[in-house]
Amino acid sequence: MPYYRVAGEIPRKRHTRFRAPDGHLYAEELMGEEGFSSDSSLLYHVHPPTAIVKSEGLADVAAEPGLAPNHPLLPRHYRTQDLPAGGDLVLGRQLLVGNDDVRVYVAAADAPSGLYRNSTGDEAIYVRTGRVRLESMYGTIDAAPGDYVIVPRGTIHRWLPSAGRVDALVIEASGHIRPPRRYLSPVGQFLEHAPYSERDLRGPDGPLLAEGEDVPVVVRNRAGLTTLTYAHHPFDVVGWDGCLYPYAFNIADFEPIVKRTHAPPPVHQTFEGPNFVICSFCPRPLDFDPEAVPIPYNHHNVDSDEMMYYVGGDYSARKGSGVGIGSITLHPSGFTHGPQPGAVEAVIRGLEEGRNTTDETAVMIDTFRPLLLGGAASGAEDPEYAWSWGRAAR
Ligand SMILES: [Fe+2]
Repeated sequence: MPYYRVAGEIPRKRHTRFRAPDGHLYAEELMGEEGFSSDSSLLYHVHPPTAIVKSEGLADVAAEPGLAPNHPLLPRHYRTQDLPAGGDLVLGRQLLVGNDDVRVYVAAADAPSGLYRNSTGDEAIYVRTGRVRLESMYGTIDAAPGDYVIVPRGTIHRWLPSAGRVDALVIEASGHIRPPRRYLSPVGQFLEHAPYSERDLRGPDGPLLAEGEDVPVVVRNRAGLTTLTYAHHPFDVVGWDGCLYPYAFNIADFEPIVKRTHAPPPVHQTFEGPNFVICSFCPRPLDFDPEAVPIPYNHHNVDSDEMMYYVGGDYSARKGSGVGIGSITLHPSGFTHGPQPGAVEAVIRGLEEGRNTTDETAVMIDTFRPLLLGGAASGAEDPEYAWSWGRAAR
């Protein structure tokens, strides 16, 4: 995170004696990235954050769900709206695709999660429907449809649906998820040409204090999931400051970059992770040259696999393919993809009739290593999708 925040009470100088009203010393905890060489926050706990009393493997879910190669090679369409609903936003995740850099899940959560810490990487949760509160050691964030919530590695948190079901895309990175470097100054301020800025990011309201003893926290590390029981509730932070904390960004606050002729997806890039990017396709004017072909050209990204989550509006390029809101398509390297047959002519006709904007909203993940297929994928696959370009061409 590029900028500094402070919440609650902190002493004037770091690493000095800071006492509670009863005289006992608060316990400092530095949450820091890349050793001591990158962003960090300094938290002040009522109780030592080191005090654990029990460690147990989560037997039923300790093994990571498996991933299978996309073989024989096919473009895929998953109707995530057909997957079973229920569970919470942590243990109710259904793995769709992944590789060693990133795993992508969907969840249709209707229950509060337990306390959770992912120590393998940052997470980005995109909320498609419903409202959910993130409670964390830094404070609370209320998330609504269209919000990306970025949860840094190591943050102890839980997800509490506010009302009804929460449909979400869950992106687990193997490292950090950050705004694209090219949109930041050398010291981390958003530049003027960036499609969003500091004012669009919502940090936690805090501090958040909870009482409790012998409190279980599910911890994900490279070996799987463990329940660590803490002597005291981890939400005992009276104050913190720094540049590392969870934050939310709503897709409607992304300012689309539009060209006279069609602009490629890097203009939609919103975040970068290790060997992958996250892009936001937002409502915008269509390309405005009188001769423009205003939807994507056929393309073959020879170095990447492309996953698209359709979250709102009417996605013209996929018309006639069966893709709808909640769908996920996977267009892998080795396959040239482009608009469905007839889509270009339909959009040009629409322009001539005055329809010169698009209301499509989608979240795209491009990975630079092949995406493998998760177990949940097969239950939601549309087997006809791969042939939707060929059928009309015959
Ligand atoms: Fe594409």
